[in-house]
Amino acid sequence: MTVERRALLRAKVTQAYVDSYGMEPAILIAAPGRVNLIGEHTDYNDGFVLPCAIDYETIVAIGPGNEAEVHALACDLDSDHDSFDPIQPFAKQPAEWKNHVRGIAASLTDKGFALTGSNIAIAGNVPQGAGLSSSASLGVALAKAFDEMHQLGGLGKTELALIAQHSENHYVGCACGIMDQLASARAVTGAALQIDCRSLETTPISIPDHLAIAVIHSGVQRGLVDSAYNERRVQCEQAANHYGVAALRDLTIEQLEDGQSGLDEVSFRRARHVVTENARTLAAGEALIKGDLTALSTLMAQSHTSMRDDFEITVPAIDQLVEIGAQFLGATGGIRMTGGGFGGCVVAVVEKSKAAALESWVSQHYQTPDHGSAPFFLCEPSSGVSVLQAR
Ligand code: GLA
Repeated sequence: MTVERRALLRAKVTQAYVDSYGMEPAILIAAPGRVNLIGEHTDYNDGFVLPCAIDYETIVAIGPGNEAEVHALACDLDSDHDSFDPIQPFAKQPAEWKNHVRGIAASLTDKGFALTGSNIAIAGNVPQGAGLSSSASLGVALAKAFDEMHQLGGLGKTELALIAQHSENHYVGCACGIMDQLASARAVTGAALQIDCRSLETTPISIPDHLAIAVIHSGVQRGLVDSAYNERRVQCEQAANHYGVAALRDLTIEQLEDGQSGLDEVSFRRARHVVTENARTLAAGEALIKGDLTALSTLMAQSHTSMRDDFEITVPAIDQLVEIGAQFLGATGGIRMTGGGFGGCVVAVVEKSKAAALESWVSQHYQTPDHGSAPFFLCEPSSGVSVLQAR
């Protein structure tokens, strides 16, 4: 974790807490955003993903409040604040961040935990609307903060991730899979996390020291994401039904092709993306272990093509950015769109020694839709949720 960046964020959230509640917070929790190296839209098909946590995060400060109410303050949103009784049923709010806080509290209540009042302040530096999972980092940090504050019994990291996903699915209203929350909870410093989204088993795969993870924002904010995302989920379920399998994870490429008859062309392409992407994700894990950058480069390029042509979740600006990055990298690094799609970021795996040259190549050859240069973030593969300050 970049020490200075965290120190600034920690100072900001602590100061806001003190200003608002008149005392120091009892507990500070940090949870990171993530970037997915490969394995897109495979998580809700029980498949494989390979994200790593990044050194951009959300910090939640929490301490005792009055008996009945949870008070929450969003430092990054003009100190917007919220108060609610955690015993009362969840009530949806117009401001989305409030639904995350209330949703985590409600999800813990659903699990049978009894929350009482507390004071909370939240600050984060994960770029929003970029596909870097600022929401998952918020959810996981909040779940851990409530766990520590109310001594719920030390929830395991996978449990924290499941609670955060439950909150997204049932209260925030996003039908996401488990990748983002598990990465934010369980990631390991210096490694990508291979996740089997059926068993929830996670395997850290070291990222060799000489490689850098670069995240480049296309300048296109992700729009209309929910409806398109949900549509893809439904298409995948329909395809799984057609093949008579529990999830697309259970299909081989041969089975996919042999059983194609009777399936509409679009659903077939959606399924083909998922089945081939699962295979690529496992192969990419192997390539990373062997340090085989050429293989990784090919797999990431194929992943992008499959997202563009079969799953249809890229946009022209993203395709152009990937093409420009690939011209520079050749077989010496990989680049593809990352995250849910329809804008946001691309991820590149590049030799550290070439990262600065990649950045200037992109700024010379790519312009965001509003004619700016693309924000470029070099990310350290970071650890999952942590307690920065314990009671
Ligand atoms: C979003 C979702 C994840 C995953 C990705 C696509 O980030 O939150 O669960 O489905 O899209 O890979």
